[in-house]
Amino acid sequence: MKPQAPAQTLDLERVVCRLSELGEGGARAFTIGSGDWPLRGFVVRVGEAVRGYVNRCPHAGHPLNLLPHRFLTPDGTLIVCASHGAVFEKGSGYCVAGPCAGRSLTGIALEVHSGFVLLADSVDVGALGRERAQAEAPPL
Ligand code: FES
Repeated sequence: MKPQAPAQTLDLERVVCRLSELGEGGARAFTIGSGDWPLRGFVVRVGEAVRGYVNRCPHAGHPLNLLPHRFLTPDGTLIVCASHGAVFEKGSGYCVAGPCAGRSLTGIALEVHSGFVLLADSVDVGALGRERAQAEAPPL
């Protein structure tokens, strides 16, 4: 009997969600890390790819969503900030309209393994979490 190759192990602390949870063009929030500055981000399906961003708007530093996992315009083609309506390309995070036009969301490198979306090994969860927390401003 031929020995089986060892199954690839997943670092459970870096798992964002199952790929199937994103569906067609869906988005999902996540929090990874602990302490005062966990990394709060979201992932969005773009065709066959998945993109990840820090959940912080470059305009005033607010989280983009007010409702859980609601990051997209009604037609699902763009990311929208619920605070003041800035809209961003899903694939690049570039702001195409709104008060921070020309700026971009902070991207998070992702990997997909065995049907799961994970943070890439290169992602420094603590550094991104601290950066997000320090950039948050009080509500307007
Ligand atoms: S905080 Fe996002 S548009 Fe103002």
